[in-house]
Amino acid sequence: MSKQDTIAAEGAVYYLFGATGDLARRKLFPALFSLYKEGKLAEDFAVVGLARRPRTNEQFRVDLQESIDEFCRYKADDAEQWARFASHFVYMSLDINNVDGFRELGRLTQELDAKFDIPGNRLFYLALAPELFGPVSFNLRDGGMLESRGWNRLVIEKPFGYDLESARKLNAQLSQVFKEEEIYRIDHYLGKEMVQNIQVLRFSNAFFEPLWNNKHIANVQITLSETVGVEERGGYYDKSGALRDMVQNHMMQMLAMIAMEPPSRLHPEDLRDEKVKALRSLRPFASSEEVGANVIRGQYSDGETNGKPLSGYRQEDSVNPQSATETYFAARVYLDNFRWAGVPFYIRTGKRLPVKTTEIVIEFKNVPDNILFAHRHDLAPNLLVIRVNPMEGIYIKINAKKPGVDNVVQPVSMEFCQSCMIGINTPEAYERLIYDAARGESTYFTRWDEVAQAWSFVDRIAEAWREDDSSLQFYPAGSWGPARTEALLAENGFHWWPVNGQAEDNVIWISGGPK
Ligand code: BG6
Repeated sequence: MSKQDTIAAEGAVYYLFGATGDLARRKLFPALFSLYKEGKLAEDFAVVGLARRPRTNEQFRVDLQESIDEFCRYKADDAEQWARFASHFVYMSLDINNVDGFRELGRLTQELDAKFDIPGNRLFYLALAPELFGPVSFNLRDGGMLESRGWNRLVIEKPFGYDLESARKLNAQLSQVFKEEEIYRIDHYLGKEMVQNIQVLRFSNAFFEPLWNNKHIANVQITLSETVGVEERGGYYDKSGALRDMVQNHMMQMLAMIAMEPPSRLHPEDLRDEKVKALRSLRPFASSEEVGANVIRGQYSDGETNGKPLSGYRQEDSVNPQSATETYFAARVYLDNFRWAGVPFYIRTGKRLPVKTTEIVIEFKNVPDNILFAHRHDLAPNLLVIRVNPMEGIYIKINAKKPGVDNVVQPVSMEFCQSCMIGINTPEAYERLIYDAARGESTYFTRWDEVAQAWSFVDRIAEAWREDDSSLQFYPAGSWGPARTEALLAENGFHWWPVNGQAEDNVIWISGGPK
């Protein structure tokens, strides 16, 4: 059941596995503090940091403080507030392969329940490699950690497996211990304000919903571009690549939100039912030739950005110097259903591209070309652009008459820039997702059947690539990817619309324009 009306999450013990890692420092600690500041965490909670490394509670609280100073949008009002918040955090060194440690964790938990008046609820957050999800779950069960009178929830990070087969095995392990409704699989894109806004924009505007189909939409373009390279994650990324790191999850989820039918109720299962239906409609690639014709696989080579030289992917730390891993992915995909038949969806994502941005462009079909002002056959199509990240908002591009006697049509963009008004990503994706998990609201977590469906789609691409290494194309770091990416759209008479700050010259902006 969704408990959307609850303001403060129910009291619980939060177990952060991987508490000394990067995710905890950058995202999870700041999210917990923000929730606390906003009263979404009352005083009846405790956080147990867990990792192998020995650490005292005091050292752990120093880590906490440093993380919040650096990454949190809130600061403590005073020392007293900080001390109160920090007192909820304790650390325990744990060997996750040793069940005795879990029994000890049980004893610590009883103390915390009593100290903070916690009603036996447990939230296990696994910021760990996926191969550890199974062993940790078994030891939680065998160590007696799941026998309290409250609820148990398991929150896990991506990647959920490496392909469909490994994901199935992983799921089979988890489901020996947890029920599906107790498992919260994070895709942090679903926690983003504008991704959640897609269903509101679509289903509460008479402007859009009647046109949201193949009669009126020419194509959809989803771009998730990053300027960063693989940084210190070469070891993980080299085995994963853009297909598994971004496409199987974030890209598929955004596509599903754009393509799904309206859910009949505002209930987590209904939204997820619609998303999985949309994913099931994706036309699978039938052969390696089809993959070759519709999918582009790129890797960055040496390049530069703003005059600063950038080295190629193969020179990055922990990356195989002969690696064929893709750091860029673009594809043309189709959904074979009534609403979308014939409409290409172009999706692209990559590292070391010129800008950091996530945008979804809906390009509408043009009006007939024979009306008065369109006599020059140069009408620009209408666009709806959803800006997900880092800027948040939407704009629409329409045609209007240029003032004067010449009957000239002028494209005009009207913008609603949400982030200009209330600040970027407020609240942060992780904040919302932790809060949702803590109150049993699972709408924006991925269900097993969605994950499996997304794997079965991307597995075919991975398989085709395994058969044919020559499909890898190189692009200079700091560029927009392999040249063929343009051809993918040109073949259908389209082109990529400029994203983030690369507005076309001839467009008048009603409010500011892209930043
Ligand atoms: C993560 C990927 O899931 O998403 C990273 O593992 C990527 O490789 C990140 O950099 C991008 O997220 P965001 O929110 O910065 O767009």
